[in-house]
Amino acid sequence: MNATLDKASRDTAAAELLAFYAEAGVDAMLDETPHNRFGEPAAEAAPAVRPKSQVSDERRPARHRAPQPSAAPAAPVPPSPDEAVMAAREAARSAATLDDLRAILMRFEGCTLKASARQLVFADGNPEGRVMFVGEAPGAEEDREGLPFVGRSGKLLDQMLKAIGLDRTGVYIANIVPWRPPGNRTPTPQEMAICLPFILRQIELADPDILVCMGGPSSQTLLGFKEGIRRMRGNWMTFHTGKREIRALPTFHPAYLLRTPLEKRFAWRDFLAIRKALDA
Ligand code: URA
Repeated sequence: MNATLDKASRDTAAAELLAFYAEAGVDAMLDETPHNRFGEPAAEAAPAVRPKSQVSDERRPARHRAPQPSAAPAAPVPPSPDEAVMAAREAARSAATLDDLRAILMRFEGCTLKASARQLVFADGNPEGRVMFVGEAPGAEEDREGLPFVGRSGKLLDQMLKAIGLDRTGVYIANIVPWRPPGNRTPTPQEMAICLPFILRQIELADPDILVCMGGPSSQTLLGFKEGIRRMRGNWMTFHTGKREIRALPTFHPAYLLRTPLEKRFAWRDFLAIRKALDA
């Protein structure tokens, strides 16, 4: 940074740099405490040629080598994706209630997203509601508040619900993945596969009459089709909760509607169809 800048200009420049990082998706710290790298003593430059004593020691047969200092304790090895999926299935199966499931997810270590997220984003709304909405994954606001759909997409979802006479006291809301992916990226297929047993169990335990999948990743993961959401939205399907068959509707994700407002007319049709199904 330019040494001639005064403090106010330095603060402005730092704020602008942070805003640029946030815009670029760099918004997660990787360590709990900051490190002053400039204050650390410079590492000694490695000699170009190894000292003779070291070379000769390595070349000696093992039984004549000097004892090596004991290695630092190894970091815990994360489970393989297959192991994580199996652990998730077993853990999800063991949940007898939604509260159990939340507690189990809090302890679950099989999904690496947990390490970069601030907290678990489990659900909002009323688990007794007849409709359950499932999105993709929490964003920055959701990660801060611990509740799904509280950011800009959530505000639009609230308006769409209101338009058909619903609000969060009457519907239940969750996501396929309950931890925020860094920089709001789409969860990988592997992350979704690991989290899938939990959302399936959550649907089974909430036992809604109607399941609404918002956006391609949620719809394709839960309803098992490969076609794009533009093709499949608005088509009623059957979903097996584990207890019974219910009706399921894929529709656009509110974040997509914010970017593509012209498509709201189709979402409106879908929401009218939800109202009609509830009234039937
Ligand atoms: N988008 C989602 O899919 N879920 C949220 O909770 C917020 C935004």
